[in-house]
Amino acid sequence: MTAFIEGLPKAELHVHLEGTLEPEHIFELASRNKIELEYKTPQDVIDAYDFHDLPSFLKIYYAAMGVLHTEQDFYELTYHYFERAAKDNVVYVEPFFDPQGHTSRGVDFDTIINGIHRAQEDARKNLGIESNLIMCFLRDMSAESAAEHLQMSLPFKDWIIGVGLDSDEKDNPPTKFQQVFADARQAGYKLTMHCDVNQKDILGHIRECIDIIKVDRIDHGINALEDEALCADIVKHDLGLTVCPVSNRFVVQSLTSNEIRTMLEKNMKVTINSDDPGYFRAYLTDNFIALTEEGHFSEQELTQLARNAFDAAWLDDADKAHYQQRINDYISG
Ligand code: HPA
Ligand code: ZN
Repeated sequence: MTAFIEGLPKAELHVHLEGTLEPEHIFELASRNKIELEYKTPQDVIDAYDFHDLPSFLKIYYAAMGVLHTEQDFYELTYHYFERAAKDNVVYVEPFFDPQGHTSRGVDFDTIINGIHRAQEDARKNLGIESNLIMCFLRDMSAESAAEHLQMSLPFKDWIIGVGLDSDEKDNPPTKFQQVFADARQAGYKLTMHCDVNQKDILGHIRECIDIIKVDRIDHGINALEDEALCADIVKHDLGLTVCPVSNRFVVQSLTSNEIRTMLEKNMKVTINSDDPGYFRAYLTDNFIALTEEGHFSEQELTQLARNAFDAAWLDDADKAHYQQRINDYISG
């Protein structure tokens, strides 16, 4: 089964580029940018990872991204992720980036996006991985800040396919960003939002995403299973759900394999993703393998999960057909 998973052509729709920062790279960047770390070795950094909920993760995540300063830093962050993803037979990615995590430290928007974009171009040329970038707003910052960053992004509109919403969800509902997301839609962006696992008011957040924001996709969204009407509307609107099994395990002590199987049975377009693989120590293939160990998924179920990701991707029909054919070739080859 491991070999089957490794070879399967995959798409990844929920990976935070800043969440791919590897401890060795944290050290390299800290040294280059003359930043003092409170850890002696990369292993010390890993040993300090103690995530049990979203805030405990975010604290470490924002502290560590402080080593990213130059365009080259953002290039390397992004290109290293693509190199790792290529080993997992990931052929298409819609990665997130968090500009406010950097502009708030004095890094220019142009510096961030130029580095990321150059890595995307090189990954296309050298690794055969296509990608389309998603800009996330930090929901624990103000709607005004999000609106400012939307404006900053417009000169780079051709390099960004959509906007998302991440960071601390508690008391930061989708409607806080209703106007920004309406403006983003107007600018031609696709829309997605995190509805993280087991958050306060989570069913209300999922409902707002569907009815008010009118998202094109939902990130996580596992809790929708608690409400039949939400499940029905997710199917009706054909909304992809980007579930992250290993990430979930830090919060719910399970890879949510039962929930993922239930979603498949309900015809919900559930996909498998790595979220923050540098921190959770599991890239995409690792997520598929761990999930299969817990839930004993069949080749047919795993193939459906991989197909769902290409289907839920923000690609045109011809591109989707091309990727589905690659899966057909793999299955029949
Ligand atoms: N949830 C919310 N914010 C995040 C995440 C996540 O999984 N990863 C990085 N920022
Ligand atoms: Zn996420």
